[in-house]
Amino acid sequence: MSTILEGRDITKRFANESGNGSLTVLEDTSIAIEKGSVVTVVGASGCGKSTLLHILGGLDKPDAGTVLWDEEPIYDMSKESLAEFRNKKLGFVFQFHHLLPEFTAVENIMMPALIHGESEEDAHDRAMNLLEDFGIPGRAEHRPTQLSGGEQQRVAMARALMNKPDLILADEPTGNLDEKNTEILLKLLFDLRTKEDVSILLITHEKDIAERSDIIYELSKGKLSAL
Ligand SMILES: Nc1ncnc2c1ncn2[C@@H]1O[C@H](COP(=O)(O)OP(=O)(O)OP(=O)(O)O)[C@@H](O)[C@H]1O
Ligand SMILES: [Mg+2]
Repeated sequence: MSTILEGRDITKRFANESGNGSLTVLEDTSIAIEKGSVVTVVGASGCGKSTLLHILGGLDKPDAGTVLWDEEPIYDMSKESLAEFRNKKLGFVFQFHHLLPEFTAVENIMMPALIHGESEEDAHDRAMNLLEDFGIPGRAEHRPTQLSGGEQQRVAMARALMNKPDLILADEPTGNLDEKNTEILLKLLFDLRTKEDVSILLITHEKDIAERSDIIYELSKGKLSAL
């Protein structure tokens, strides 16, 4: 197996409001994601899981350390190349879904493909198929405020899958879902991994989800350790 994404010796600090001193969230810690694997990160609230996901996903530069994609340091790329890399290779599901409020569900899902230059017709077809997979084809024309929390989360997941990413970075993707939809979503994720060789990094509090993954990392006091 080859490593698709690696965070090497990552340190991240946040300045205190007062300006003196800082909070060290990640301290000289490393993680590797093998191609086609499912990796979960668990840890207490506030320990730095979302911060780690943003750093690994090219959204927030660490204070020290390197993030490598196929052995290339991503933060050495220009801003434009980094944005293109994220659009093409990664699918994000944020903890707070970040759907665009002025667009409908189907438009939100289509967005990454349109940015990528795909035709509107193809993007629409694929987005509708994804809505169907998630069991909410009837919500295509709803705006985010007209969707339930769990529906919003499924739309966010569909959006992350739109460009057939190599790696999905998902922050508590089942946090708002009932048992049935948690199962649907997990099945979709695990199917993708076998069908399309997608790798998955999942932050979760749910033990039974973590147990289905290949590697579980625990984040505590700035350090990751494999469980
Ligand atoms: N921009 C920021 N400026 C200052 N402090 C921050 C910033 N972002 C996060 N933090 C702090 O860093 C710590 C880690 O935050 P993070 O969001 O990564 O935690 P988390 O593990 O995802 O928590 P949860 O499980 O509650 O989502 C928290 O104590 C938070 O207050
Ligand atoms: Mg978080």
